[in-house]
Amino acid sequence: MKSAAPVKIGIVGLGRLGKRHAANLRYQVPGGQLAAACSIAPEELSWAEEELGITELYSDYDEMLNKADLDAVFLVTSSAMHAAQAIKALDRGLHVFTEKPMGVNVDECRQVEQAAARNGEKVFFVGFVRRYDPSYAYAKKLIEEEVIGEPFMVRSQTVDLDEYADFQVEFVPASGGIFLDMNVHDIDLARWFLGSEVKTVYARGGSYVHKAFEDVNDADNTVVLAGFEDGKMAVISASRTAFHGHDTHTEISGSRGILKIGMTPAKNRVEVFDAYGARQDCVKDFFERFSEGFLNEAREFVNCIREGRKPGVSANDGTKATEVGFAMTDSFRQGKEISI
Ligand SMILES: NC(=O)c1ccc[n+]([C@@H]2O[C@H](COP(=O)([O-])OP(=O)(O)OC[C@H]3O[C@@H](n4cnc5c(N)ncnc54)[C@H](O)[C@@H]3O)[C@@H](O)[C@H]2O)c1
Repeated sequence: MKSAAPVKIGIVGLGRLGKRHAANLRYQVPGGQLAAACSIAPEELSWAEEELGITELYSDYDEMLNKADLDAVFLVTSSAMHAAQAIKALDRGLHVFTEKPMGVNVDECRQVEQAAARNGEKVFFVGFVRRYDPSYAYAKKLIEEEVIGEPFMVRSQTVDLDEYADFQVEFVPASGGIFLDMNVHDIDLARWFLGSEVKTVYARGGSYVHKAFEDVNDADNTVVLAGFEDGKMAVISASRTAFHGHDTHTEISGSRGILKIGMTPAKNRVEVFDAYGARQDCVKDFFERFSEGFLNEAREFVNCIREGRKPGVSANDGTKATEVGFAMTDSFRQGKEISI
């Protein structure tokens, strides 16, 4: 039974992704009502007012929590703020959606887990968007139906266009680096598909194209070999230097078959056959690739609240992904295998 009242949501952060989430919540999430918006950037608040017609606007998060009449917050702030903002909202009795990563260190993730546990009647949702992408969700269903037998290996990559590299360099201090910012999704997928926990990671990488990443102790291309508790394995890679498009894809090998998800990051189903060969245009960025996933996760968040049920993704999933992302970063920086 769904509750009839709309879920009143305050969005926090209206940057690159926050604007997309805000527009989804405003126009495309039945049962949800975008009631307030918060950002430290005045021009983003003006955008919310002019483009979305939101009149309850805050430049201070605490003020929004104190004054606005809300059921839930939707956190799309910089990664380092998610944990503290999530804990505050949970302890005020609000449902919480937080973008990934749930926290930028394991200690703060554990504190979020504790806050979610002591407010167990509230919905707490970590935005691992790929789980809500129709193709990834379908792959999970096939695995549960044992179509490929027992899955034992995941190969998964996140690849961004080279034209975003300068922006990514600036973003490193806020994002936590290539493993936490990009591969946190692949880590979550590998755990989800293999049903097991990462035990060891061995990362390699470098700044092969943009030396600026080395200067901030990060990399533009990386690869990680991960060993799982039950002997399963994953190869997880990332690149910030692609020229064809945003190329996220994943392959799952099982005892009776293989699933491949999105191996060509095609923009649509049109293939061009001409004097230059045969080719497809590609999606440009994460939002174009996962626009359905972003919408589905927001709808699922609201439906969980209205139906009084828990989402399939938990605070512990958020902690595990951050823990493994940190181990990968340590392994890359120390040049050796790290045990978790
Ligand atoms: N799921 C995904 O695939 C995906 C993709 C991109 C970004 N993200 C995550 O979304 C988050 C935001 O990313 P982005 O690219 O939109 O970043 P961004 O820098 O463009 O936006 C950050 C926003 O937070 C606001 N902000 C900062 N401090 C604040 C505070 N104290 N109170 C209120 N607002 C504050 C800024 O004004 C801005 O609106 C990051 O954590 C990132 O990891 C997830």
